[in-house]
Amino acid sequence: MSVTVQASAKINLYLRVGPLRSDGYHDLATVFHAVSLHDEITVEESEHLSLEICGEQAEKVPLDGDNLAVRAAMLLARRLGREPGVRIVLRKGIPVAGGMAGGSADAAATLIACAALWHAELPHDELMTLAAQLGSDVPFCVVGGTALGHGRGERLAPVLAAGPWYWVLALADGGLSTPQVYAEFDRRRASGDGELREPGDGEPLDVPAALLSALRDGDPKRLGSLLHNDLQDAAVALRPALGRVLEAGLDGGALGGIVCGSGPTCAFLVSDQDAAVDLAARLAGSGWVRAVRCATGPAAGARILARTAG
Ligand code: C5P
Repeated sequence: MSVTVQASAKINLYLRVGPLRSDGYHDLATVFHAVSLHDEITVEESEHLSLEICGEQAEKVPLDGDNLAVRAAMLLARRLGREPGVRIVLRKGIPVAGGMAGGSADAAATLIACAALWHAELPHDELMTLAAQLGSDVPFCVVGGTALGHGRGERLAPVLAAGPWYWVLALADGGLSTPQVYAEFDRRRASGDGELREPGDGEPLDVPAALLSALRDGDPKRLGSLLHNDLQDAAVALRPALGRVLEAGLDGGALGGIVCGSGPTCAFLVSDQDAAVDLAARLAGSGWVRAVRCATGPAAGARILARTAG
């Protein structure tokens, strides 16, 4: 038997970073939003655990135990008390190390795919606990849609978000390391960048009500003006060309633009499909981006596309 699962990329529409915790993570207040770029994972029974990768930038994805799909299969097998004998084939559509949770999507997809392959009836809560052990963004990649994230990103609550929302994604050459971007953020905040101050004592780390109401009302103009990412300046400091990309997107008519998560992908919100095609063409011709994609959100979480009997 084989099982194929699709999992979506994410954008953080809002990302506020709280203090560095003793476990090396930061508390967050974020709004995750799944978009229609996706990876696909097919798993089938095999004697040994193996991984093959195809698709865009496949050569940049680690094939060993650092790969989140491999770690997901091993974690689930351990939980079920069985051998992780499975052949995993991963088709990449999400930029690698692009700040769009590509690795986390693969982990979420592998959990769902292996659970189906191994006929494991895991309660949802337990699946989400395993997902959180694999990475802060993995629980969101399981559920998709639009959601508030707290804790290190693993504590989720659904958000009412009308849609569709139209996005143009500017893909960069090369990735950025998430820990390095957080470290740069900490450095900038410690050096007294007032914009990045930590929430005061008793001040909640929260998402602005105006942004949630723009999402609920389906108002792209308002949402565009409220997009925010605390990590953006750190990502731009490490990759100054991103400043030009953001400028090019806004000059090209975007309603708002933002670095995705820890970057370097940039996401631009536009009003409709025609505006997306126009902006995509302008960005592609700007010389500042490796590639451009149009996407819509909210997209689904990790879901089974096909099961075949072997
Ligand atoms: O959870 P994940 O493995 O995706 O996190 C990768 C790295 O990103 C962490 O090791 C940490 O440096 C940083 N991170 C953080 N605070 C978060 C999420 C991630 O500092 N809430």
